[in-house]
Amino acid sequence: MSESIVKRVRTRHFVSAKQSGHVITGLTCYDYLTAQIFDAAEVDFLLVGDSAANTVFGYDSTVSVTVDELIPLARGVVRGAQRALVVADLPFGSYESNPDQALATATRFMKESGVHAVKLEGGVRVTEHIARISGAGIPVMAHIGFTPQSEHGLGGHVVQGRGEDAVKLIADGKAVEAAGAFAVVVEMVPRAVATKLAQELTIPVIGIGAGNGVDGQILVWTDLAGMSTGRIPTFVEQYANLHETLTGAVTRWQDDVRSRAFPDAAHSFED
Ligand code: KIV
Repeated sequence: MSESIVKRVRTRHFVSAKQSGHVITGLTCYDYLTAQIFDAAEVDFLLVGDSAANTVFGYDSTVSVTVDELIPLARGVVRGAQRALVVADLPFGSYESNPDQALATATRFMKESGVHAVKLEGGVRVTEHIARISGAGIPVMAHIGFTPQSEHGLGGHVVQGRGEDAVKLIADGKAVEAAGAFAVVVEMVPRAVATKLAQELTIPVIGIGAGNGVDGQILVWTDLAGMSTGRIPTFVEQYANLHETLTGAVTRWQDDVRSRAFPDAAHSFED
């Protein structure tokens, strides 16, 4: 799938990637410019995640973000991505009531932002919702294990699928696959359990905090790039320190402005 021969990553490429052993990559993305960067790097899919609640809007939890807040972000990401498959998260409260509500929200994302697929959280309990959305022709990515929208119900950021709970996790994976999901994100689950899940499913399992035995990986891009100074999850490796880089650039610019070194002649217009 990484060959540039792929003009646009499609859900069928997810299936062939699993079969060929190509490891699928995904990053969260919330705007046009970063979408262009990640797309040029051939990241396979971009997720307009409800983590925008924290990274864009500064809320404490993903529970607060709304459909109306995410749709404009998704529009920018779609415009910036020529190759990547773009997936939008259905935020908390926009799909759980019943399959009709889920389809209506998924339809809004497709029509108003142009994303190629939607993601929703939950296993067995949302199978009818997944079936209704995918039955209408909208690809669905499922999300099981630790599901941030249920943070309070799960008792905080706790690893899922440990011990006897592994059986429930595998059952959730099988249920979302049977309901029609084209891929499933599995978050904060022991490596061995996630690996077993990937072996038992035909759809790709995309891990976040789930070890390297799955079919692909996703991360919140601002964590990977070191944009924030707050706590980052144990499973994140910071590949850059953009916080430091940006702070340095802004500080140097401000010093130059205050000393009147900038703008100099080269950056000014003459008569
Ligand atoms: O919104 C998000 O960032 C996500 C990832 C954690 C997969 O759902």
